[in-house]
Amino acid sequence: MLKNNPWELPKPLVYLAPMSGVTNKAYRQIVKKFGSDLLFPEFVSIYGMHYGSDKTLEMLKFDDMERPIIAQLFGSKPEYFYEAAKTIKNIGFDGVDINFGCPAPKVAKDGGGCVLMGDLGLCKEIIQATLKGVNNEIPVSVKTRKSYKKTHVRDFCKAIADLPIANICIHGRSFEKPYIGEADLDCIKEAKTLVPFLVTASGHGHTPEAAKYTLDYTGADGITIARGSFGKPWLIKQIKDYIATGSYTEPTFNEVLDTMVEHARLATQINSERPFVEMRKVLGWYIKGFPNASQYRAKLVRVNTIAEVEAVVGEIKQ
Ligand SMILES: Cc1cc2nc3c(=O)[nH]c(=O)nc-3n(C[C@H](O)[C@H](O)[C@H](O)COP(=O)(O)O)c2cc1C
Repeated sequence: MLKNNPWELPKPLVYLAPMSGVTNKAYRQIVKKFGSDLLFPEFVSIYGMHYGSDKTLEMLKFDDMERPIIAQLFGSKPEYFYEAAKTIKNIGFDGVDINFGCPAPKVAKDGGGCVLMGDLGLCKEIIQATLKGVNNEIPVSVKTRKSYKKTHVRDFCKAIADLPIANICIHGRSFEKPYIGEADLDCIKEAKTLVPFLVTASGHGHTPEAAKYTLDYTGADGITIARGSFGKPWLIKQIKDYIATGSYTEPTFNEVLDTMVEHARLATQINSERPFVEMRKVLGWYIKGFPNASQYRAKLVRVNTIAEVEAVVGEIKQ
């Protein structure tokens, strides 16, 4: 029996999606402050885990305040999923998630991510191996897309419906058009009729209104927020407020900038050696739409210290 199942939290679940190159510790912790129900580190390769890659193990570090936290795995070999799932459980994660949705060449090149949807038998084998690896001690979930070539997510759902998994998260865009155009919500709505476990919607949660619409329209049990959180770590709180009360507040100009500095400070505390490598692009997201944003962004992409961030923020505030 599962002792703590994060998927049993009150519905709807509203949480930060896994994002490679984005959801590092500092990013997760700033979003957690605004109420993300779940967190995911950047996804890790089952091969990186098998070979004990330092970079992979580093990406799997988290602080207790981030719980419940779920690790996401990518790759294509069931026996490595078995092994990786065991390790994830032993590290102390609250769940393990399998990536069946990533279209990126680095994942697709050995048949992992979304490409797996082209072989539903292998998808099942991977899930079964992962379930065996966690030995019923932490939940297993999956994340996928609307379609891969001729395989629709409805086929995927039918193939896995009898497995004891906790949640399927569906990004309503195809492999062929991975991030552009409107997300299809009908495939998520249909999934609710096909599987006995939870369904989470992804791809149409960029505003509180869109998130609520997605939940109402699809009947999904949760929604996961990805690009909508860029420069807006408070979006999850706004969505929850909007669902609960029908209204939400926007942060003031100063609150936006103060959150940006807080985020930068967290990054320096967490990664004292190279805090600004990933942070520079993130800082730029906060000032999107500000007057003279491009001028300040040009300065933010060169910062190396928290004092330099504060200096740019001082200029913006004047
Ligand atoms: C930069 C970036 C990295 C992503 N990395 C992952 C990942 O590692 N695992 C995953 O399941 N999805 C990943 N995604 C997909 C998102 O989790 C999400 O499903 C997708 O962006 C659609 O949601 P959105 O329209 O709210 O951005 C990534 C998306 C972006 C933009």
